[in-house]
Amino acid sequence: MAHPHLHLESRCVHGGQHPDPVTGAVMPAIATSSTFIQESPGVHKGFEYSRSHNATRFAFERSIANLESSGLSEEQERTCGGFAFASGLAAISTCLELLDTGDTLVSMDDVYGGTHRLFSKVRQRSAGLAPVYVDLTNPALFEAALQKKKPAMVWVETPTNPTLKVVDLAAIATIAKKHGIISVCDNTFATPMLQRPLEMGFDIVMHSVTKYLGGHSDVVGGALVTNRADLAEKLRFLQNAIGGVMGPFDAYLALRGVKTLAVRMQRHCESGMHIAQWLEKHPKVERVVYPGLASHAQHAVAKKQMQLAGKPAFGGMITIFIRGGLAESRRFLENVHMFALAESLGGVESLIEHPAIMTHASVPAESRKALGISDNLVRLSVGIEHQQDLINDLEKALAHV
Ligand SMILES: Cc1ncc(COP(=O)(O)O)c(C=O)c1O
Repeated sequence: MAHPHLHLESRCVHGGQHPDPVTGAVMPAIATSSTFIQESPGVHKGFEYSRSHNATRFAFERSIANLESSGLSEEQERTCGGFAFASGLAAISTCLELLDTGDTLVSMDDVYGGTHRLFSKVRQRSAGLAPVYVDLTNPALFEAALQKKKPAMVWVETPTNPTLKVVDLAAIATIAKKHGIISVCDNTFATPMLQRPLEMGFDIVMHSVTKYLGGHSDVVGGALVTNRADLAEKLRFLQNAIGGVMGPFDAYLALRGVKTLAVRMQRHCESGMHIAQWLEKHPKVERVVYPGLASHAQHAVAKKQMQLAGKPAFGGMITIFIRGGLAESRRFLENVHMFALAESLGGVESLIEHPAIMTHASVPAESRKALGISDNLVRLSVGIEHQQDLINDLEKALAHV
């Protein structure tokens, strides 16, 4: 059951799912078998070996494919264009294997530190990848980069991690299509509830499932979804050939997480907005970056492309600049209690971190400086706790700054 006509809230629960044909179980079993019996060599039920075929992983892959509107049918591609991996980075690594040695990749300048590390410190050496970092919030800069050397792929992350820049997806997709460039969008921060890259013309959507899709900080995973049958065929081959697949226990947790994505995102968005507005008025906070604030440089684009149930909605990620430097940031971060000082984001519990020292330490210091990832920058992932408890926690910690 593809359910393309249903609302996203219903697709979180039912998209790509069907009861077990033998038992009628409404949730798929965790399929642990690594191998499957064959009646005669090559005669089997469509399952040979679990890296290639796993029913629990397939169920999650159909779920995310449906949510991202891949539009591919099970006849075209077994999991309708959805592919699940052991981590977000395993998904990115596999996606990069669509490229040939020496290809150019235009990447958003502000991307997750691990993505930057993979492009510049691994693939550049091992595959001659030529990453070119461009501020894609200005689509004219993408056009300008194309004049130098045509890239094979454009990599967009929006909102970006950690400076929350917002890229106009429709504008970038139009340019990429015109020039025959594969376009990929890391949709981790917005989730399919808020932002619809394939519907805006992108070829591939990527997720760190570890974040909002899993939603409970208890699983590491990644996903790719495409609406192009040619790319689905290549990704299916690469997923199996490279082997960085999501395991069945993780697929079960990821699928369970997606079922509640709609209600969680609603709360993340409401609290994110409320807390961003509160922080913007706080004297110890120099600046707040949140796509929902009128002060955000790309607020107009965010309003247009980030929506929840037809209304603008901006997610649960907030970036703030504390008044002061590293010492003040440390005092603030050492004194939060409900916000857990930890890497990652997108869980039901609120998290807070210092990108320059924690998640983005792998980005070279000069690039961090150019991007504004300074020692007074702190990133918040607003969870689903009561807003007032979260504000009280921040208020007490800011008193130490
Ligand atoms: C935007 C974004 N993309 C990709 C990743 C990598 O995902 P994973 O940690 O699941 O490998 C992360 C991790 O923080 C991220 O924030």
